[in-house]
Amino acid sequence: MTDSKSFSLWLSLLLPLGCSPSPSGTTPASPASETRTEYTLEGSGPELYEKILVPPLFAPWADDLVNRAHLERGDRVLDVGTGTGIVARRATAIVGPSGSVTALDISPDMLAVARKAPAPAQPIIEWIEGDALDLRFPDATFNVVLCQQALQFFPDRAQALREMFRVLAPGGRIAVSSWRSPELNPYAIEFAKVVDKQVGPEAGAETRSPFGWDNQRELVQTLKSAGFSNVQADAVTLDMREPDLTTFIINDLLAYPSTGRTIASWSTAEKDALVGEILAALEKYKTGDSWTIPWVANVAVANK
Ligand SMILES: C[S@@+](CC[C@H](N)C(=O)[O-])C[C@H]1O[C@@H](n2cnc3c(N)ncnc32)[C@H](O)[C@@H]1O
Repeated sequence: MTDSKSFSLWLSLLLPLGCSPSPSGTTPASPASETRTEYTLEGSGPELYEKILVPPLFAPWADDLVNRAHLERGDRVLDVGTGTGIVARRATAIVGPSGSVTALDISPDMLAVARKAPAPAQPIIEWIEGDALDLRFPDATFNVVLCQQALQFFPDRAQALREMFRVLAPGGRIAVSSWRSPELNPYAIEFAKVVDKQVGPEAGAETRSPFGWDNQRELVQTLKSAGFSNVQADAVTLDMREPDLTTFIINDLLAYPSTGRTIASWSTAEKDALVGEILAALEKYKTGDSWTIPWVANVAVANK
């Protein structure tokens, strides 16, 4: 998953992999010892992203990003690589009716889910299908640009940042985030190590790819080269709290093309063993019935 095309493939694979309603309707609270009887999750890829990944993971990061951007009432905001729209929705609640929020993504399927998700009534979010490398907005249209966990997927990050700079008004702010390396993200590394071993190194490499743009110095330099000033980058850690880590892991496994394709033909016992091993590797993050796992990202803010 190194570019926008593979991200779309990543999502589209969830459909063929079987997103029919689960016959049991419930998911066990998930210790490794419990046996699952099926591996189907209800919903399309983007629906599952919104339902399973956004609440415990991307929503807390969206709150952090809008805080760091010091959003205010009346701001004119662009969210680039909006996905199913969590950052745009959080921004809308802050800028209020006197502001505006425009949210852009290359995937029409992600945008279809974004449009349906409940959002504050005003301002109405404008959802735009488009490429971050070629923003179709006049110069100086916005005074805040946000981009959460999308920059690492763009085939030309420098070009995307130049475009974000161009569409910002003088004095405008940008806030962007990108995961740090798998080695610094316990969920990612334990997940990838088990996938390496049980599915194969190609699948393991694929699961590391969202964590593939870890270089904070390069992030700062790319922002400066695009024209930004007052660039400040921090390694930020936020905890993911997830009571149903089994469903989270299954969604993740099915979501990666190579991994998903391979395990689709496995027996239930083999899949149980795979999920069980990942859960066991993360056992130290379990307290009572829930997991609390730290995730680390580079988050940068800057001015035009
Ligand atoms: C991991 S998701 C992050 C979504 C959202 N920002 C969030 O925090 O939930 C990455 C998003 O980047 C989008 N994307 C990838 N390449 C893109 C491009 N060239 N232009 C616009 N969006 C792109 C994908 O379609 C996907 O929705």
